[in-house]
Amino acid sequence: MFYMSLQKSNFVLGTVQLGMKYGLNNRHNQPTLDESFSILDAAFAAGINTFDTAYAYGTAEDILGAWIQDRSLADKIRIISKMKPHVLNDYPDGAKAIDVIKTELKKTLNRLNLNSIDGYLFHSPHYIYLRHMVDGMKKIRDIGVVKNIGVSIYNEAEALQAVEMGIDYVQVPYNIFDQRLDRTVFFELAKKNKVTVFARSPFLQGLLLMRPERMPKNLFYMRPHMEQFIEIVKKYHLSPVEASLIFVKAHCRADYIVFGIDTLSQLKNNIDIINNFLPNTVKGLVEEIENCFKDFNQGAVNPSLWSKIKL
Ligand SMILES: NC(=O)c1ccc[n+]([C@@H]2O[C@H](COP(=O)([O-])OP(=O)(O)OC[C@H]3O[C@@H](n4cnc5c(N)ncnc54)[C@H](OP(=O)(O)O)[C@@H]3O)[C@@H](O)[C@H]2O)c1
Repeated sequence: MFYMSLQKSNFVLGTVQLGMKYGLNNRHNQPTLDESFSILDAAFAAGINTFDTAYAYGTAEDILGAWIQDRSLADKIRIISKMKPHVLNDYPDGAKAIDVIKTELKKTLNRLNLNSIDGYLFHSPHYIYLRHMVDGMKKIRDIGVVKNIGVSIYNEAEALQAVEMGIDYVQVPYNIFDQRLDRTVFFELAKKNKVTVFARSPFLQGLLLMRPERMPKNLFYMRPHMEQFIEIVKKYHLSPVEASLIFVKAHCRADYIVFGIDTLSQLKNNIDIINNFLPNTVKGLVEEIENCFKDFNQGAVNPSLWSKIKL
């Protein structure tokens, strides 16, 4: 069952976990190179041919590059990477920005063993407000070495700005606790402006899969919500992993879902869930989850803000 292909998969494998020890739970070490190759082979065999990475993800680009070369996959897969964060901060001038973008992209292509890349995104979301930086990306796209340009965002304002800037890709957070973009016109505008949307973090970096009693102290205020989530999941005879993936698959209007895993067995588990998903059986679950958890604000659901909560 596992190797049944996810034909034309709209799932993307995130690779931050391959390049560094990452996440809230952090029970597993960074996979070895052999383990990473097995994970990437299994994802590809299951029909996942798009991989999300970034300069900032430790050795992730190098691992992907070694795998692509070893398996001769350059023309069979799509890679979306992200520019080193903040690298353009010191370049208010347009021409300089283009030079820096070119240099950074070259480093990424070298690490990936590729001559061109499907997607290249700003990892610093505020760059989407700076016209000369966006124009710099467009010039790089015109050269042809990048097919699609875009940005990875964290909040509603950035998302709404991104779909008006003539870019191709926007990566957004979306999961059971993070339905913020459904309260905006973002998905409608993305469709109208032909922007492809990638929804990341269906498990909220693993938080949705944690037992409430194991949640970190600074997230104590999320505990009652986790307990409520577990109650709902039990009612539908599902696990939190199943409910998290099914909710995003059934409810999110993004074109692709970007998920992360630490181990091969987590990947297999997720692929089994995706393959066995029957949309018409989960209506009640989806409605209940939507109603219970649609009102969280950024402080609750943005992992980069969690560490700033002091008790
Ligand atoms: N700003 C950005 O551009 C940005 C930010 C974040 C992420 N991303 C991208 O999006 C991808 C996904 O985001 P994410 O990794 O933060 O969130 P995620 O996909 O919501 O969570 C991934 C974590 O969930 C746990 N998990 C996954 N499948 C599981 C299973 N079957 N059983 C048990 N646990 C399971 C693992 O954590 P544990 O084993 O530790 O529990 C795994 O590390 C990343 O790899 C990265 O490529 C981009």
